Amino acid sequence: MNTLLLSDNEYDVKQAGEILKNGGLVGIPTETVYGLAANALDGEAVARIFSAKGRPMDNPLIVHIADIDDIERFSLVSDFPQKAKLLAEKFWSGPLTMIIPKGSAVPPEVSAGLDTVAIRFPEHKTAQAIIKAAGVPLAAPSANISGSPSPTTAEHVMNDLNGRINAVVDGGECRVGLESTVITMVPDTPRILRPGGITPEQIESVIGKIDIDDAVLNRLEKNEKAASPGMKYKHYSPKARVILVRGEGYIDFVNSKSDKNVAALCYNDDVNNLSVRAIPLGDMTDTESQAHVLFDKLRQIDRENFDIVYARCPKADGVGMAIYNRLIRAAGFEVIDLEKL
Ligand code: TXA
Ligand code: MG
Repeated sequence: MNTLLLSDNEYDVKQAGEILKNGGLVGIPTETVYGLAANALDGEAVARIFSAKGRPMDNPLIVHIADIDDIERFSLVSDFPQKAKLLAEKFWSGPLTMIIPKGSAVPPEVSAGLDTVAIRFPEHKTAQAIIKAAGVPLAAPSANISGSPSPTTAEHVMNDLNGRINAVVDGGECRVGLESTVITMVPDTPRILRPGGITPEQIESVIGKIDIDDAVLNRLEKNEKAASPGMKYKHYSPKARVILVRGEGYIDFVNSKSDKNVAALCYNDDVNNLSVRAIPLGDMTDTESQAHVLFDKLRQIDRENFDIVYARCPKADGVGMAIYNRLIRAAGFEVIDLEKL
């Protein structure tokens, strides 16, 4: 298949809409990461997403809308809880995905057989324009080959999916750089399943106490069921072995490995003290810029062909929780605790 590279002008957006209407797959920009979109109401089109990405069929997709009224208009949910309405009012459009009891129009391919559906209203203007041009809500996971780092540029999408999808719309670099916060609104106390740019503190300021799922920061036990199926896999991972290093003495530890083909995923202040290839994520306290570049830096690690990458363990609060969540999965939960050596 020849993959068209479209721009974000009106003509190309219309063309993307036509491809989607006809059951095709289009890579689309959003403020979080690029998504691989199909008509969410067409089970056959949605099934193509899974084969293009090599995604396990038991991992459900997010349905993207361009207007809150789309939820009712397309019968996407069977109930819209009061707390979900409050969050929608405050954070939509924006990087927040809510899990809600699913409506009759959502095909089983989207929800992977669950009785819930994930809904998101992206803030990116081009994403909204493409949804409107398609005239239907769009199911879209991140537009990467399953398991690899999520794409934050059209070039990343092309690197992973060229030849496997109909088109990519280039809308520039994604503002946030990490996927949306996913929260289930089904229990009385809503629970975060995946941390993202909207923090637990921001959500609690609107609806009061929420929970954070165990799988956000910890490895699931072998036979434990993941509330969010996507959180159980090794994920976001470059080909190099990534190891998270926690505790005082990061610089000395990494420098002691300088005879090997290793890199350090670190912060700006570390660079001059390191004797291995340093790949800084930005200023240590600036979690928003770290989030913005994280996936591109993970892809850079592959471009430079390192064997091992020692990542400096981030603090897991605020947006840092999302960075920690992605890095520990990139590392397949391999952590060296310097205080315990
Ligand atoms: O920012 C984002 O959310 C991006 C952009 C493209 O919108 N999308 C994205 O999709 O990250 P994906 O498929 O890579 O991640 C969706 C996550 C997965 O962990 C999936 O298991 C979870 O949401 N999910 C989707 N529907 C669910 C449901 N009904 N119940 C529980 N988890 C669900
Ligand atoms: Mg993904």
